[in-house]
Amino acid sequence: MNAELIEQNVHRLLGAMTGAATTAMVAIGDQLGLYRALAGGGPATPDELAARTGTAARYLREWLSQQAAAGFLAYRQSDERYGLSAEAAAVLAQEASPAFLAGGATITRGWFAGIDRLAEAFRTGAGIPWHEQDPAVFEGTERFFRPGYTASLTTQWVPALPGVADKLVTGGRVADVGCGHGAAAILLARAYPQASVHGYDFHDRSIQVARQRADQAGLGGRIQFEPLDATSYPADGFDLICLLDTLHDLGDPAAALAHARPHLRRRRPGRGTERGRRLRSEPGQPAGRAQLRGVHVPVHAGRSGPARRSRARSPGRPRNGTATGRRRRLQPVPAGHPDPGQRRPRAPAITRGRPAGSCVRRDLA
Ligand SMILES: C[S@@+](CC[C@H](N)C(=O)[O-])C[C@H]1O[C@@H](n2cnc3c(N)ncnc32)[C@H](O)[C@@H]1O
Repeated sequence: MNAELIEQNVHRLLGAMTGAATTAMVAIGDQLGLYRALAGGGPATPDELAARTGTAARYLREWLSQQAAAGFLAYRQSDERYGLSAEAAAVLAQEASPAFLAGGATITRGWFAGIDRLAEAFRTGAGIPWHEQDPAVFEGTERFFRPGYTASLTTQWVPALPGVADKLVTGGRVADVGCGHGAAAILLARAYPQASVHGYDFHDRSIQVARQRADQAGLGGRIQFEPLDATSYPADGFDLICLLDTLHDLGDPAAALAHARPHLRRRRPGRGTERGRRLRSEPGQPAGRAQLRGVHVPVHAGRSGPARRSRARSPGRPRNGTATGRRRRLQPVPAGHPDPGQRRPRAPAITRGRPAGSCVRRDLA
């Protein structure tokens, strides 16, 4: 046995355990509004922060010390106050910031709460349906991804699809499949007041929350949220179907894409909108079957830098493995960037420049 290697592994695990403990403390700070109170009221002693937040100063003394040790807070010895920098507030306190991540920390609660269930699944080989996870996973997912959608969905991602934003500005129909708590559908309804927006998710409870969120946003009458599976929502003819951070969660992603295909309609310049089945055939495709092109760019752990996965597909070429659940083809990784082939926890790209899921549409004629 190599004692040095043993020690390296000890430190590796200690680092992971420290991260887990810090994440728990971040969840506490988020839940109790501690970060928001520091951001709004400025640096504070434990007593001052306790007065602002209705919490116990003795506990806050430990929390503040831990957060300073973790590097999130700055400690000012001269007046014994702890402060949150603007850059830390963007990540920990400001829900509207594209860099906000404290809400996503809630996911880890759900992961730990589900350990026994997961261990059992390891034994039996049975799956764990999405909707049977701990509710903290649903809330954490919503709060993890919403900042990215807020920053980019209607300002960059939809406009990047030729002709789609123009269509939605004047009307059109959009579906958010696997909509969860409805964050993206709400943004779409707000950005495109003339469009008809539909959210589908097979998880009843998520649909109930989505309806509540839409009501709170004053958009309750504008969005139809329905508890339907990705392969059973009605074929009403959509101009855009989004599967945001969802395709890989589906039991049968290929069936979901096959279901989406005939629901999409395409606009032919000067000829109005037609159903896909009436389209001319594309090179290499059977007559009457329009191609489906997807934009699917998983959020990656890197906070900046070049895209690591191939996005562009030439017409008629199948996406490498996407529909069958196999790994997508990866582009070479520039020096200095981690190997994307290694699975890692997902974190939002700080630039929020690309979709955290899939928007599928027909190619325009
Ligand atoms: C990771 S969450 C993403 C939720 C939402 N799109 C977001 O970005 O916040 C995946 C969603 O897919 C939904 N889902 C999983 N399987 C589904 C299916 N077969 N049909 C419809 N929705 C499904 C889950 O209920 C969950 O809300």
